[in-house]
Amino acid sequence: MSRPVLKIGAAALRAAARPVEAVTAEVQALVDEMVAAMYAERGIGLAAPQIGVGLRVFVVDLSSGREAGALRVCINPEWGERDGMQLEEEGCLSLPGFSATVARPARAVVHALDREGARHTVDGTGLMARALQHEMDHLEGTLYVDRLRGLSRSMILNRIKKLDRDGKW
Ligand code: NI
Repeated sequence: MSRPVLKIGAAALRAAARPVEAVTAEVQALVDEMVAAMYAERGIGLAAPQIGVGLRVFVVDLSSGREAGALRVCINPEWGERDGMQLEEEGCLSLPGFSATVARPARAVVHALDREGARHTVDGTGLMARALQHEMDHLEGTLYVDRLRGLSRSMILNRIKKLDRDGKW
């Protein structure tokens, strides 16, 4: 079973995800499917709503599968500390072909359960802090374009509208 990564416009991307009740074999299968989808698209992060599943689960691998041990699985993640600010280019598998400069915390800490249901903490700076904030946003139905100022947001959204009209989205 393999679900496609949803693109902006899909309602599932805009709903707040609900907590996982228990890390069952079914949830582990979901995690495995998400990791496979992320690697297939050469992404560095993916949240469950992006494949149409409204659960608080995301995966991050800054190496996109090239480095053993780089995968982080976060089930029912909760914020720890966040501090500082960074401005870097960012994209999303749900807005393929687009990127924009987004303000994010310079450091972010997330407490979550891993694939085995054990508690763990991801303490990230730079790209990892950015990825954590981006994926946490997905669990609230927020996309990075929502965090852009009016002009850069409408440029991206207008180009997507045109692609959609042309049947290319
Ligand atoms: Ni994304």
